[in-house]
Amino acid sequence: MTCPFFTPAKLLKIAISVAGAAMLSLPFHVIAADAVDADAALTLAKKNDCTKCHAIDKIKKGPAYKKVAEKYKGKADAEDHVTKSITTGPKVKLADGTEESHKVIDSKDPKAIKNLVDWILSQ
Ligand code: HEC
Repeated sequence: MTCPFFTPAKLLKIAISVAGAAMLSLPFHVIAADAVDADAALTLAKKNDCTKCHAIDKIKKGPAYKKVAEKYKGKADAEDHVTKSITTGPKVKLADGTEESHKVIDSKDPKAIKNLVDWILSQ
């Protein structure tokens, strides 16, 4: 015998609306944990003159970000490597053959740096 007040269809509707309300009440960063803020990444790159040596898909003094992303595709330690490359100033060879220490990014905000690294790796 079915319950006269809560038909299965009604119960389903209630369940869906409860689940929906629960989703809406989640903090935004839980839902969008890995979303990259491209605007923020580009702004930070421009502010640091990264764009003088790097473009998304053409070689300048340094490799295109697409090439960097390709090189690290599927590598578990990609984020770690690239973060080190832009925070520790390793020796790099420019396209013209000269060597210099890579630029160290001028930011103390690990989240902003991670966002830029994730953006580069998503090209
Ligand atoms: C003077 C030119 C120059 C500037 C400025 C510069 N880079 Fe580079 N960058 C290079 C060169 C050259 C390489 C290539 C290193 C190599 O392959 O040996 C490189 C490599 C990289 C890589 C790849 C590292 C890896 O692990 O393979 C990333 C990512 C990168 N740069 C990001 C940045 C960011 C972000 C900035 C700004 C904070 C920046 N670069 C500023 C010249 C530059």
